[in-house]
Amino acid sequence: MATREALWDYRDEFGDAFGRTYFRRFGPGVVSSVGIGTYLGDPTPAVDDDYREAIDLALRSGVNHVDTAVNYRCGRAERVVGEAVRNSPIDRDAIVVATKGGFLPFDGRRPDDPAEFVREQFVEPGIVAPDDLANGAHAIAPDYLGWSLDRSLERLGLDAIDCYYVHNPETQLATRSRDAVYDRLEAAFEALERRRAAGDIGAYGVATWDAFRVAEDHERYLSLAAILARAEAAGEAVGSDDDHGFDAIQLPFNVAMADAFTRRNQRAPGVDSDGDADAEPVSTLEFAHEAGLSVVTSASIGQGDLAVEGAIPTDVDATLAGETPAQRALNFARSAPGVTSSLVGASDLDHVRENVAAGTFDPLGASAFDAVFE
Ligand SMILES: NC(=O)c1ccc[n+]([C@@H]2O[C@H](COP(=O)([O-])OP(=O)(O)OC[C@H]3O[C@@H](n4cnc5c(N)ncnc54)[C@H](OP(=O)(O)O)[C@@H]3O)[C@@H](O)[C@H]2O)c1
Repeated sequence: MATREALWDYRDEFGDAFGRTYFRRFGPGVVSSVGIGTYLGDPTPAVDDDYREAIDLALRSGVNHVDTAVNYRCGRAERVVGEAVRNSPIDRDAIVVATKGGFLPFDGRRPDDPAEFVREQFVEPGIVAPDDLANGAHAIAPDYLGWSLDRSLERLGLDAIDCYYVHNPETQLATRSRDAVYDRLEAAFEALERRRAAGDIGAYGVATWDAFRVAEDHERYLSLAAILARAEAAGEAVGSDDDHGFDAIQLPFNVAMADAFTRRNQRAPGVDSDGDADAEPVSTLEFAHEAGLSVVTSASIGQGDLAVEGAIPTDVDATLAGETPAQRALNFARSAPGVTSSLVGASDLDHVRENVAAGTFDPLGASAFDAVFE
């Protein structure tokens, strides 16, 4: 598990090579504001090799935040992350390892008939109840998440996971009401509070795609205040020493998907100027900042689309620091107020070098970032 001392030592070793605020508060210490993701790529041994080398290089270059999920690349991504972390010359305790559970994982390759695979591997052995499934492939029931967390620890080959996300909880809205999803999240958080007390995870959160970006009346919307209240209730129910371990959210954020900054869709409980039950809405980034949550951005360079010349609008591009479009796109994401770390998926060593070097430039200050949208 990442420790305060080892994280700060890592910062002391690498910090001088980077620009202002490259390392930021996260978990028990600090983490690099550029992280490496592992989502894209085929489930093949060749891609495994590429990622293994890419993660190794990133860890040795000043990136100590690695993100994966139990289902990425049919379960191969977690194995490769574990191998890279375990074999790295960098101390395990200096690395933030994040993974996710929610989507039912395959086992190394895509089965010919995914529905049959889910029935045989998950439903028939009683790992997932049919009622818990959304879209035939997603569950957040506490027992299932516990099973999934065990698979993650096993595949990673690590004693503990630093940040465990419930993966895209809005997927459950396909089969149940919003209140039922909050109820299920609370039950999931209770299970995760117990795993935190047992030392299996350092903290937990939710990783989302639509939930926090869309308008309040959108069918895939979730309220961060409601989710946080459920984490508080879970912490209380389990009797956690420090309230609760819900510390981080993950959401897509880039030049072309800046909704977490631009859309006011989150309300703190309270009373607004009209006497309504909830306060005026604020953006997800502002809400998270006020609530003391870490924010991790995914798709920070638009899944590669923003890495090409001309993809970033010219006026925005001119304000951003970086020698290449990928660096400027990444620096946009990690400049947004309230963002802790921006993930870039990279299996190519030149991409890793380019992305690490983005961190040698200073991010925009808060007012310069605001000005981009004026
Ligand atoms: N809902 C969720 O929870 C969720 C959703 C999406 C992503 N994520 C997480 O966030 C991470 C980042 O998002 P993402 O991987 O979807 O998208 P991304 O980081 O925006 O883009 C990754 C793509 O960009 C390419 N790339 C990386 N660096 C580059 C560079 N310097 N120049 C040109 N191309 C470059 C990569 O290619 P190579 O592989 O060839 O280097 C890969 O194809 C994921 O890996 C995952 O860990 C979470």
